[in-house]
Amino acid sequence: MRLVHLTDLHMTEPLGFSRFWGKRSLGYFSWRRRRRFIHTKEVLDLITESVLSDDPDLITITGDLVQLGLPGEIREAKAWLRNLSKKAKVFVVPGNHDIYVKSSIKLVRELWSPYLHLMGNSFPGFVRMGSVIVIGLSSAYPAPVWSAEGRINSEQLETLRRIMREFENKFVCILLHHPITTDGVSVRKQLKDLEVLQKDFLNLKTNLILHGHLHVNKRYNLGSELKVFCTASASSMESVSPASYRLIDFSEDRLGVDVSSVLKTLNLDSGELHEKENMKWRSDLAVTDSGRVSI
Ligand SMILES: [Fe+2]
Ligand SMILES: [Fe+2]
Repeated sequence: MRLVHLTDLHMTEPLGFSRFWGKRSLGYFSWRRRRRFIHTKEVLDLITESVLSDDPDLITITGDLVQLGLPGEIREAKAWLRNLSKKAKVFVVPGNHDIYVKSSIKLVRELWSPYLHLMGNSFPGFVRMGSVIVIGLSSAYPAPVWSAEGRINSEQLETLRRIMREFENKFVCILLHHPITTDGVSVRKQLKDLEVLQKDFLNLKTNLILHGHLHVNKRYNLGSELKVFCTASASSMESVSPASYRLIDFSEDRLGVDVSSVLKTLNLDSGELHEKENMKWRSDLAVTDSGRVSI
């Protein structure tokens, strides 16, 4: 099974400034002043072309597809997702720029529903590919002006615990937008109730977490086993953090899952992608008393 991790596409241009007020008018100025020079469609096209040439089974996108959660932006992202889904299964969780205000929630749920893989009407989303279970949590909510913080509500955590009990013998990969650490993350961008979440992820024997929001490539561990990868924005022209994606291959046998992960980053001068952080590890499976295999 081959998985790709893309994040923070910021692909749209918000139009109709005269109708914006409050949080959206401030967000618009931030986009005009800075973000529109960092995120470009041309770079995203290059990354998308490379992703598709790698022939993935599942393309995961951990949020911030748009800028201000506007109906036109959410529709534009839907068309892009639909095109992408003709080549591979697509799994999206929203970011704070998608769920920008209250009215964005309904539109994201409706228009992106084929790519959210919700269980019923609410998060988490869920995709199973052999022994690999991918679970998508929504950490985005319409935060106050100037805040880009995240939250995961208790209903999602309850469902997550139930899924994990059902699939305790599988390799579990969790997708969410916000980071699972406060290290190097400003208070206004942090995930709330982080200590509880960290304990949950460790107790539930999660194997891998993929997130975005920070627009940098970063790796860290929770506990000794749980690996966490943050990937830079897939449309970034910033020389310190150019556009990137991760390619993760899973190969399973009865006793475990072998994982290999490569980070691909764009060279802004040549327009070519270079491989970095080539990692390989194995998550062993243990045979229980009942003869079942469990991680
Ligand atoms: Fe972002
Ligand atoms: Fe974000």
